[in-house]
Amino acid sequence: MLRFSFDKAAKFMGPHVAAQESVPGQNGPGGLAGRARAAHEALLAGTGTGSEWLGWRRILQDPNDALLEEIASLAKEIRREADVLICIGIGGSYLGAKAVIEALSPYFRQPTLGNEGAETDNSPLDVIFAGHHVSDSYLTQLFDSLEGKSVYVNVISKSGTTLEPAIAFRFARQWMESHFSDSSDRIIATTDPERGALRALALELGYRTFDIPTDIGGRFSLLSPAGLIPIAAAGFDIRSLFYGSVAMMNELSSPVDNPALDYAMTRYGLHESGYTTELLSVFEPRLAGLSAWWQQLFGESEGKDKRGLFPATCTYTTDLHSIGQYVQEGKRNLIETFLIVDDDRRSAEIPFDSKDPDGLNYVAGKTLTEVNKAAYSGTMEAHLAGGVPVQSITMDSISEENIGRLVYFFEHAVSLGGYLLGINPFDQPGVEAYKSEMFRLLGR
Ligand code: PA5
Repeated sequence: MLRFSFDKAAKFMGPHVAAQESVPGQNGPGGLAGRARAAHEALLAGTGTGSEWLGWRRILQDPNDALLEEIASLAKEIRREADVLICIGIGGSYLGAKAVIEALSPYFRQPTLGNEGAETDNSPLDVIFAGHHVSDSYLTQLFDSLEGKSVYVNVISKSGTTLEPAIAFRFARQWMESHFSDSSDRIIATTDPERGALRALALELGYRTFDIPTDIGGRFSLLSPAGLIPIAAAGFDIRSLFYGSVAMMNELSSPVDNPALDYAMTRYGLHESGYTTELLSVFEPRLAGLSAWWQQLFGESEGKDKRGLFPATCTYTTDLHSIGQYVQEGKRNLIETFLIVDDDRRSAEIPFDSKDPDGLNYVAGKTLTEVNKAAYSGTMEAHLAGGVPVQSITMDSISEENIGRLVYFFEHAVSLGGYLLGINPFDQPGVEAYKSEMFRLLGR
């Protein structure tokens, strides 16, 4: 389950925005709450700007269980046959899968105990991402490291023409062809159902293909095959992930007691009050990938027409010893959303030392989780006292289902945020600018 608390942030809204809240008839069309409600209704009715891109809701409204099964069985094959799965993609075609895999994976691979030789689903498959930059040394070292290993490739590109993954895939294709006689059976292409160079190439070379539906944009594609294949291959339960999102969508169907609407409204109210930057701060390092996914979702959806909160991320307590100083005392343009895990199962106790040479016996007997919770509460109070509007989203554990819930929660909230800002949350015209400059320099 997820819990939400936005009240500490809302009180920082400027008087002109807060006034919209307090006037009689605040739920009328002119007040902030009324506008947020109208945005929610436009999203549900499919009448808002960019509504041709609402496939991310459509697939949850009408789940395709056969597709989930097909992906799970492909994942089983990959886990049985391969040591490494290379997932090639950029932006929305890699951040979601990476986020979920990192959040659910142990920090360190544990030694496998017992059942030697038994067919198990615990194969130590490495899922490696590529094509999300053009680093020469990354790609060269990656292929060098694959010698002697059994490799599968999942190339993921909606358009099928994005330069970074297209280049990485050309290298990967040639490497696969020179190393495996059955290379076309080991390459899976996830792309637009009809258009693009990757679809044509896959058809010509006989790769297995999966569709990213036409009405789903990259950053909303986590629950399509774009995200689900790598996540399933990494050994995670995509059904729980998917149905967690379905459950959240159903819970958020009413505008009353709707935390996504409250989150969108608070952020927008603070934006209109002059705040420029939202930090998403986590206290569990394996959630950093989810922060990166959130950053793309909000940055690409809202940053238009010279509007929108700049989405930034912090991983605490590490970052309290770097940009924590700025958050506490720098320019007062920040709001902060904490993404917290309230799970104290399997927490190590800090040992007692009778000589106490480090003076740490005052925390002896406390668990690391208790210390981390104190760090969160202390940070939140300190930042609040320093003039930062703070709010929090709490998960009771890091699980497929909870991540699925969180994914839908943020997707719903960012859509409302875009509508409140008066922009189309589902396009990304600004991403084209660097591409045309780069293509010009490369002589295309
Ligand atoms: O969210 C988006 O639309 C983008 O980040 C795309 O996912 C990214 O540019 C990659 O595009 P494609 O999947 O077409 O290669």
